[in-house]
Amino acid sequence: MKKVYIGIIGFGNIGSAVAEFIKKNHQVIIANAGIDLEVKTVCDTRKLHIPYSLTSNYLEVINDQEISVVVEAIGGENPAKKIILAALNKKKHVVTPNKEAIAKNMKTFLAAAAKNKVQLLFEASVGGGIPIIQPIKESLAGDKLSQIYGIVNGTTNYILSKMSLEGKDFATALKEAQDKGYAEPNPTSDVEGYDAAYKAAILAMVAFQAEVDWQKIYREGIKQISQDDIQYAKDIGYVIKLLAIAQRDEGKLDVRVHPALLPKKHPLAAVSDNYNAIYVKGAPVGPLMFYGQGAGGGPTASAIISDIIIAANSKNKNQNSKLRKINLKKIGEVKSKFYIRLEVPDRVGVLAGISKIFAQKKVSIAAVLQQETDGQVVTLVIMTDQVAEKNLTAALAAMKKRPIVKKVCNVIRIAS
Ligand code: HSE
Repeated sequence: MKKVYIGIIGFGNIGSAVAEFIKKNHQVIIANAGIDLEVKTVCDTRKLHIPYSLTSNYLEVINDQEISVVVEAIGGENPAKKIILAALNKKKHVVTPNKEAIAKNMKTFLAAAAKNKVQLLFEASVGGGIPIIQPIKESLAGDKLSQIYGIVNGTTNYILSKMSLEGKDFATALKEAQDKGYAEPNPTSDVEGYDAAYKAAILAMVAFQAEVDWQKIYREGIKQISQDDIQYAKDIGYVIKLLAIAQRDEGKLDVRVHPALLPKKHPLAAVSDNYNAIYVKGAPVGPLMFYGQGAGGGPTASAIISDIIIAANSKNKNQNSKLRKINLKKIGEVKSKFYIRLEVPDRVGVLAGISKIFAQKKVSIAAVLQQETDGQVVTLVIMTDQVAEKNLTAALAAMKKRPIVKKVCNVIRIAS
């Protein structure tokens, strides 16, 4: 039986969950994969009482001849980047859930892995326990992928679900997510869409073998979504989700993260609470959806163990390290349908003025929602047909200069 020694760098929630997983499922892994996994050394700066050799110097892990797989579980870009590169250069397979380090450095890491004939594996970096990286790389290698829509951030999905299903406002739903341990005390990375943007970059690079600069990904968080938007969206048959989008579009890649109205009948619309799901369209396979827990020790460790098994079986298998250059579509060029919520004065000619500006900027109106009021201000919800974003931006800018619109309350893209 093949014996595989593992070094774990960083023994927080994830690192310790990996060790626990190996202890608990040792026999299952032997029965299913024929590999005897053993955690040999843990690197952590804290004094821990653990049944493994403990060091605070990562070089002791990567210089150990017996260890063939290093699990990097520190998180964040630094010092993880240096450690991952050092381990690859010492000819260790590296397995990591570190979305930030992978999104920012995939090309460098893959080149180092290829040069040293080892594997860099990061299944746990997107969707926690959901198998998505390996299915895209291996199971769907024969298909031409065209579109990926992901609900890849559990925190924001939890908040939006609570807003939608229980009528809570953003601040209350965020507080509840923090109390449950889903959201960090500083929720910026989740609610502003950074976490989802790292994951979008990783999905796009894996699915389209293209180099994606995560900083060029258009990103918008969920803070500006109000209970009004949730309710209007519901009334017209939609739910609001934070989507990570990666798709081919006229020879370019369209990669972005933002809240979107999703038709209630879309498979992703039913993904609620802190669950994640990734919807993939390919040809000839058609649409697929991968669903599960996107965070947490157990699910994340499950993805890490699957990578360790792949690494252990990867003798002489070359890491595909080629990422081609491709232009990212600028957000102004992207064509979408839009939901627009406006506050307008309740007087003659307002609607006519708005539709005239839309017509001038070549924005076609698909639907208008207005409730009867005896007040002086009316809420108008307008849905457009598909239009390049720069046209809509121009129309809204023209409208803001005229007294026909008091306030543009929100503009949300509609996904289909
Ligand atoms: N902060 C992430 C989330 C954790 O909320 O989904 C998993 O990457």
